[in-house]
Amino acid sequence: MSPTPDFDESLFAEDCMTAEPSVRLRRLTPADAPAIAGLLGDIAVSRNLGRVPHPYTLADAEAWLAGLVADRSGLRAAISVDGALAGVVSLTPAAGALGLGYWLGAPYSGRGIGTLAIRSFVDFAFATTRIGVVEAAHMVDNPASGRVLAKAGFRPYGAMRARSLARRETVEHVTCRLRRADWAETLPIIETDRLTLRTPTMADAEETARLAADRPIGLSTAQTPALGALDEARGFVLRAARDPRPANLRLLMRLKESGALVGTVGWRAGEAGVVDLGFWLGVDHRGRGLMTEAARAALEAAFQTGGVRAVRTTCRAADWASRQVIIRCGFQWEGSGLVRPATGGPVAADRFRLDRETFQSFREWTPAAFRAFGG
Ligand SMILES: CC(C)(COP(=O)(O)OP(=O)(O)OC[C@H]1O[C@@H](n2cnc3c(N)ncnc32)[C@H](O)[C@@H]1OP(=O)(O)O)[C@@H](O)C(=O)NCCC(=O)NCCS
Repeated sequence: MSPTPDFDESLFAEDCMTAEPSVRLRRLTPADAPAIAGLLGDIAVSRNLGRVPHPYTLADAEAWLAGLVADRSGLRAAISVDGALAGVVSLTPAAGALGLGYWLGAPYSGRGIGTLAIRSFVDFAFATTRIGVVEAAHMVDNPASGRVLAKAGFRPYGAMRARSLARRETVEHVTCRLRRADWAETLPIIETDRLTLRTPTMADAEETARLAADRPIGLSTAQTPALGALDEARGFVLRAARDPRPANLRLLMRLKESGALVGTVGWRAGEAGVVDLGFWLGVDHRGRGLMTEAARAALEAAFQTGGVRAVRTTCRAADWASRQVIIRCGFQWEGSGLVRPATGGPVAADRFRLDRETFQSFREWTPAAFRAFGG
């Protein structure tokens, strides 16, 4: 597939989280120039890069940032550590492909930050755009970079020589790539008897919007997406890509038989050790036990992720179908009160909770098949 030349600038309107709360990806701003100049001025960093000269000045950083304004041919993000700019990660057109670039300032290297940031960025880019393949190249004498790429799923496929402005010489590089199909293989997936549950990508947005257009749902949980328009469906995909897995997970439910999208299920991180389960089923698919099947599988997955002690959920007081799903999963009623759904005013709702021990003793169904919940 040819590179996508038109990245939506709102993709990084909100921070993209990584598995480590202190490490995030955020939009670059002109105010980042001094930090970029300070870190890239270090030859230990720029010698591993192609297009960064040495010395590298504040004016260079300002000019680079100014050149990004209105440039939609690439996707770039600041790597922020405890709120400070630690480096940059980017996808830009290069030699007919989309090339991944990344650097961290010396104080931030060797601490696992590159691994977190690059994985999250690549995940985010594949999930929220339609790019088909990402290319990368690292210098042969920069094995840490090769290792970080390997951990993000990239595979070496060749070699090339390219100039390094900082070294003022041509350097031998290893070329690597990650194809969308191989990336998709790394995503969490849950298989039940009748359903396949996967994380959404932008390719699912239109179908998700259509399914939700009739707002049939009646299930009002903390994370039920207020879908119904393409923008809202896109927002759902973006949130799924921004929030770190497996502390948060949003999955689309598709029928194995036909591939049809029928609903969503997932959880969001709540207080420490507790996640909030949300679920939602299209009107044409109700009354066949699909939601119970998916919610039970999601619960198993949630309890498999480290540190989850309890799962909570909420449903409208008058929503008997949801309540049945919740009871069949083993939840205990905790209380009632008002909740604010994503749209409309507050509604009366019941709160339920399921502790790990109760879940383990209650579970009487066949466990679903899972793959990889690591991030
Ligand atoms: C390359 C870079 C992004 C890596 O980020 P990082 O946060 O330092 O990397 P991490 O700590 O997440 O992981 C580094 C991995 O490389 C491994 N590594 C480090 N030095 C190594 C070496 N000399 N040989 C082999 N592996 C090495 C580490 O053991 C670690 O792997 P592990 O987690 O399996 O043990 C960062 O160091 C950097 O920005 N360097 C300067 C600029 C640059 O090189 N950019 C890339 C241009 S292609």
